[in-house]
Amino acid sequence: MWRQRADVVIVGTGVAGLAAALAAHRRGRRVVLLSKASETATFYAQGGIAVVLPDALREGGDSVDAHVADTLAAGAGLCDPQSVRSIVADGYRAVAELVSAGARFDETVPGRWALTREGGHTRRRIIHSGGDATGAEVQRALDHAAATLDIRRNHVALDLLVDDGAVTGVTVLSGDGLGVVYAPSVILATGGSGHLYSATTNPDGSTGDGVALAMWAGLPVSDLEFIQFHPTMLYAGHGGGRRPLITEALRGEGAKLIDRQGESVTDGVHPMGDLAPRDVVAAAIEARLSEAGDPCVYLDATGVADFERRFPTVNASCLQAGIDATRQPIPVVPGAHYSCGGVVTDVHGRTGVAGLFAAGEVARTGMHGANRLASNSLLEGLVVGGRAGVAAAEHAEQTGPARVVEAAVPTRPALPRAELQRAMTRHASVVRSGEGLRELTEQLESATPRALRSRSDFEDAALTAVAGAVTAAASARTESRGCHHRSDFPEPDPAQAVSTVFGADHAPVAVGCR
Ligand code: SIN
Repeated sequence: MWRQRADVVIVGTGVAGLAAALAAHRRGRRVVLLSKASETATFYAQGGIAVVLPDALREGGDSVDAHVADTLAAGAGLCDPQSVRSIVADGYRAVAELVSAGARFDETVPGRWALTREGGHTRRRIIHSGGDATGAEVQRALDHAAATLDIRRNHVALDLLVDDGAVTGVTVLSGDGLGVVYAPSVILATGGSGHLYSATTNPDGSTGDGVALAMWAGLPVSDLEFIQFHPTMLYAGHGGGRRPLITEALRGEGAKLIDRQGESVTDGVHPMGDLAPRDVVAAAIEARLSEAGDPCVYLDATGVADFERRFPTVNASCLQAGIDATRQPIPVVPGAHYSCGGVVTDVHGRTGVAGLFAAGEVARTGMHGANRLASNSLLEGLVVGGRAGVAAAEHAEQTGPARVVEAAVPTRPALPRAELQRAMTRHASVVRSGEGLRELTEQLESATPRALRSRSDFEDAALTAVAGAVTAAASARTESRGCHHRSDFPEPDPAQAVSTVFGADHAPVAVGCR
């Protein structure tokens, strides 16, 4: 078994992981980044970064209060207002730092960023790059800034080592076999868990790794029932795996959601119509599909000005699927997109285990509540990632080298992936029911233990653990709220307007995250 040492180990190389790495490196800490996959969810982000700009503040067009209010409204009563304010208010500083690292955003005139709108936003406050290739630009700039850091590709973090209430390192599987990187600070920045489902907008590596690692280390999780289904994933028959996102910014620029008859899908559903928060639009689409028995609805972008230049990524995906979106509506369905919950942390990424941090989609800071506001994810990753890097560097400096503890190949329950994805897609998608969730629980409990000797063994076990946590949380929430819709409890219940914290064994341990 190989052994190495670092001050800060970061698992994941998307926006949160790289922002954390750069911050810890700037403080003189020895940073090691572990990356199992070549693609990140950050790279695929299209719409942009929601941020209140100084110009907009000065000219009265936007305010931190307005961005906070929109975030809280989308979050359906479960956001933590203090966390939201802390992250939103720090947004412009973090974006300015990203620009210093080389990121470039689209402009209307030199020196003035172009702003778009997405669901749930009452203002145009979303900056973007390359039209609809914002994530690719963020990833490019951060990759470039982090080019001299110690990034280990094809390294799978299998387990966290915790000794006497403090993290001491990570057990890793690499081309050189099993090893350990010992460090007093570890940051989980592994992204989401879209591959819980048969089809998703997420890249291959989004298998819930960080949430599973944290739960196996005994850490609490919260809000995992709130899996956000993006209203417009390109429909391509029954094909599974990663499927192209059709950015919500298209609706911000005038595209309309219609059914097969050409009727609006959202008329009369919400005052913001097609630009209602994502959970509302996804539920309206699901309702229309089940009423009509249709496989998809359509996004009519034929009236969007300058479509090919403004939305080159969407245009390329459509053309690849044989669709000319300048002339015909794009077939779309809701697709698994984002986990609003995760490992319970504060707004500096701190967890309940000394030295262990989580940032980005893997974490539950209280920013997203029951439904994340569009384009708040890159914002949170940048802000909390950077802060977690600072906090991890300080922790490493204070505690000194980690203690060496023994590591071994872990054994965990794991269902075969296709079986798990079919069951989750059937019973835990946009609409759930008590009966379906009971069936799902039984199926998940039939998972058999597996020694985690490969990336796919590890991912199957991580997906099984996270599916169990999502199912337990969805079963316990006997109401409909945000992204969580129960056909047997179709209304929100004011008595349940609070997050529940679940322990690693899927049992509720507390109500409220503070
Ligand atoms: C989109 O471009 O519609 C996705 C942006 C997001 O998930 O926030």
